[in-house]
Amino acid sequence: MRLAKYLANAGLCSRRNAELLITGGKIKVNGQVVRELPTTIKPDIDIVNYEGKIIRLKEKIYIMLNKPAGYISSVSDSKGRPTVVELVDIDERIYPVGRLDLDTEGLLLLTNDGDFSNLMLHPRYEIAKTYEVLVKGLVTDNEIRRLSDGILLEDGLTAPAKINIIKKYKTETLLNIEIHEGRKRQVKRMFLALNHPVIKLTRVRFGSLNIKGLKVGEYRDLTEGEVKRLINLAQLKTE
Ligand code: URA
Repeated sequence: MRLAKYLANAGLCSRRNAELLITGGKIKVNGQVVRELPTTIKPDIDIVNYEGKIIRLKEKIYIMLNKPAGYISSVSDSKGRPTVVELVDIDERIYPVGRLDLDTEGLLLLTNDGDFSNLMLHPRYEIAKTYEVLVKGLVTDNEIRRLSDGILLEDGLTAPAKINIIKKYKTETLLNIEIHEGRKRQVKRMFLALNHPVIKLTRVRFGSLNIKGLKVGEYRDLTEGEVKRLINLAQLKTE
C-alpha cells in the first residue's frame, strides 16, 4: 500500500497532505525517514511513525441503519437538529453514505471508509436503490409508463426506473420504485411532476441489501460478505 494512502486511511490527514508530510521528511518507516513518492509499505509488517507516534490503520466500519424520520443525514447540523450518527453508539468517527431527506425513513449506510463511500455514490456505478412510496391519488398505468421511461425534471430526464404498484387505496397509492441515480429529492420530484405528492418515503433496498429485520431506529454491522457483495456490484458496472 502507498504510504500516503496509509496515512490518510489512518485518519492522519488527506492523501495530498500526507504526500507533503512524506516529502517534508516528517514520516519514518521502521525508524528511517522516507521522502520518496511513491513509497510503498506492507501495512501488516512496517512500523510507521509521525512525531514520535506510531500511526495505525483504523478498523473499517460499515453499518446499516433503519433511519427514522426527523433525523438529518449528516455528521452535524448548524440548526441543531438530531443527526443519524447520534443514533449509532460508537466512538469512531463515521458518516452517512449519501443522504436521505429529513422525513425519509429506511436503509442508510454509515462508514469511516471513504473509498467505499465513493464507490457506492458514484453515478457511474449505478447502485440500485428501491423505495416504498405512498403517494396522493391513484397512479394510472400511463403514469407508471412515464415514470419507468423517464420524467423530465428541472435537472434533466430521469434514467429508466422499475415501478411496481403494491396497493391502491381509495385516494392513495402504495408503490415500489427502483432507481439507479441519486439526485436530490428525486423520488419526490418524480411523483410531484405527475401531481402525486409523496406522503411517505422509505428506502427498502440498497444494492444487495434489504432493510428487513431492522426496526426503525435500529442498526447493525454489515457482514464481510455483505460489504464484498456491494463492492462487487459497483465494480461489475465498470466492466
Ligand atoms: N428521493 C427523495 O425524494 N428523497 C429521499 O430521501 C431519497 C430519494
